[in-house]
Parts: sequence; C-alpha cells; structure tokens
Amino acid sequence: MIQPHGGKLINRILEAPARQAALATAASLPSLDIDAWTLSDIEMIAIGGFSPLEGFMNQKDYTSVIDKMRLSNGLVWSIPVTLQVTPDQAKSLKPGQEVALKSGGAIVAVLQLEDIYTPDKSREAQQVFRTTDETHPGVKRLNAAGSTYLGGKISVLNRTKASTFLPYRLDPAETRKLFEERGWKRVVAFQTRNPIHRAHEYIQKCALEICDAMLLHPIVGETKGDDVPASVRMKSYEVLLANYYPKERVMLAVNPASMRYAGPREAIFHALIRKNYGCTHFIVGRDHAGVGKFYGTYDAQKLFEDFPAEDIGIMPLPFENTSFCTVCGSMVSAKTCPHSSDRHVSLSGTKVRELLLAGQLPPPEVSRKEVAEVLIEAMRQPTAV
Ligand code: ADX
Repeated sequence: MIQPHGGKLINRILEAPARQAALATAASLPSLDIDAWTLSDIEMIAIGGFSPLEGFMNQKDYTSVIDKMRLSNGLVWSIPVTLQVTPDQAKSLKPGQEVALKSGGAIVAVLQLEDIYTPDKSREAQQVFRTTDETHPGVKRLNAAGSTYLGGKISVLNRTKASTFLPYRLDPAETRKLFEERGWKRVVAFQTRNPIHRAHEYIQKCALEICDAMLLHPIVGETKGDDVPASVRMKSYEVLLANYYPKERVMLAVNPASMRYAGPREAIFHALIRKNYGCTHFIVGRDHAGVGKFYGTYDAQKLFEDFPAEDIGIMPLPFENTSFCTVCGSMVSAKTCPHSSDRHVSLSGTKVRELLLAGQLPPPEVSRKEVAEVLIEAMRQPTAV
C-alpha cells in the first residue's frame, strides 16, 4: 500500500477520554466563528486528507510553500492551507493560547495557536494563482477573507459529519482499507468538479486499462457559484457508473475539500490528497483545476516535471485534450488522430448548458444521455443549478 504523504496518515479527531477533557475547557476559551471554507479545511486536516498537515500553516511553512512549493521540512506541498481572520478578530489573541473554532454556535475544534502573521496577499495570489486579477475566483476569495493568518495545530472535538452524500463519505483510512480488502494495488484517482462527459470517460477508461481500479473522487466542498452543484453531480455520477462502468473496479467517494482553481499548483495538491486516500496514480488532463484563460492547457502536467517523481510519490497520468473524431469514429487526441479539429465534435461548456436549459440532449459524442437527463431535470428546478 502506498504511504501517505510524509509517511503517516494524520488523525486530528480527539477520542474519549481526551475529548471529554478538551470539551470541559473549550467552553471558556476565546472563540472564533468559522465559515464553510474553513470547516472544509478542518475536515481535510482532521481525517488526514491533507497529511502531513496537522493544522493551519505557520509563517515558516506558509512562506516556504509560497516560495518553493515545499513545507519547511522539505516535503512537496503546493497550496497554502491557512486560517484567515480579520485584524480585529486577532487583536486579543496571543501565540501559546488555545482558541475554540465554532460553526453554527457549536465548538468544532480547538486551535493551538502558534503563530499570528500578516501575509503579502498579492504575492500569495501571484505565486499560487499566477495572477492578482480579481476576476479569478481564487484571488477573489483570498482577498475577501481576513488579512491576518493564524497558524497552529488543530484538534477536532465535534466532527460535523455531514449528512449529505452518504454512503460516499469515506475517509482516507476507510478507502485505504477497502482498497486492501479488494486487492487493488494500482488505483487511479480522478478529480472532478463537473459532470462526467465523454472525454472524461475516455481518459478514465484508458487509465483503467493499466490500473486495477479507479477512485472517482469529485470535490464536494466549496465551488464557484456557476459550477454544477455537488448534489446534482452526484446523481449524474451514479447513473453513469450504473450503466457504463464495471462495478467491481470503480469506487465513488466524495472529496470534502474546496476548489481553489489554482491550476498547476492545485494539480499537485490534488495528487497529494489522493495519495493520502491510498491511490497510486492520478489523472491530469487538459487545464486541470483551471478557470478562464489563466493557465496554459498543459501547465499542470508540466509542473509535475519540476519535482523528482519520488518527492510526489503518486504517479501523474497526463492526458491530451480529448474529443470525438467523426472520421476515426472514436475518442481521440492530437496524439492519436491525424484529422483536423473541424472533424472533431467539441462543444463549449456554454453551448452544452444552452442545450440542457432548452431541455435538449447534447450529442452522444459529448455526453451520455443518462447524464444529460439528470442535468436537464435539475435545471427545471431553478434553485438547483
Ligand atoms: S477540474 O477543475 O476538476 O480539473 P474537470 O472536472 O472538468 O475540472 O476535469 C477533471 C479532469 O479531467 C482534469 O484532470 C482535467 O484536466 C481533465 N479533462 C477535462 N476535460 C478534458 C478533455 N476534454 N480532455 C482531456 N482531459 C480533460
């Protein structure tokens, strides 16, 4: 079984009797209200999805990640995981203190405050997102959140185990156990924030040809407003898997992390997370985790080449931009097809959306009928999409 990043699967969920002792003192601690974004980060840290992180980054790790894409101990890590608060919220706090982190009035976790620092956000944006343009959703979120960062380990006292997407909420320890029980040695992970279209299906099935199994691992944390909601996507994955994938070689589970839209850096981050879930291979297609025109089509794939393979540990499987060729009569890429792109069926996301909104099925070379039907149905309920 592949080792978690850093060699140990982190578990920051307190169990009895430590939990009872912590609960008794937590009520008298200074507290901070946290939002859904931070709650998702806490969940990922607590269950080991972000191993080796045990909490929110201190300044030393933060600076090292921003500058070198490595933690201060040298381990590869490409995305800052930080607790952003306002200067006002931070003004009465001191390093060495414990702080209760609350959601909806209930204590979720305790932060062992190690460090309070003020980052250079525009430098962070430039390094992480390769832009400071606020039309980039990641930059917008970064700038909207607080300008003071709190670093330190966390301990979760009350895990807000979500009631949604059961039975697909599998922690890294659980997916690892299931992979082992099923005898899966080479497991490819597929990250997505979209319904699965035919190009996705093609690259997944190419990967399945060389791996034992696939973990379909959609992001269900925060995504930008115009992405298809996770609840609708989950239905679309279910109908697709039921009709077109071998049950004994595919596992669907949700990834509670939030989307950063950081393109290349997020591709590395996504790969390390899936390594923690026990996967050995990771699909990186065109413009992975990209948004708008902020990244080159293959920038994410290129970034993996900047690191020795053993420093990342999970093997990236790079795929070219894929579509259906009407001459070849199959899914192709520039690596496999000699025909010009005007012979390829490729519809923009906007065009597909227009068709679905009008209740029309996109061509079968673009989307499976069952998937399109789920999306059309969801669009009929104006609040869903
Ligand atoms: S992402 O933000 O999660 O990357 P999306 O869900 O669209 O977005 O993509 C999931 C994976 O499929 C990513 O690795 C992406 O690069 C890849 N991908 C999406 N569309 C294509 C395509 N037409 N050809 C090749 N790879 C693709």
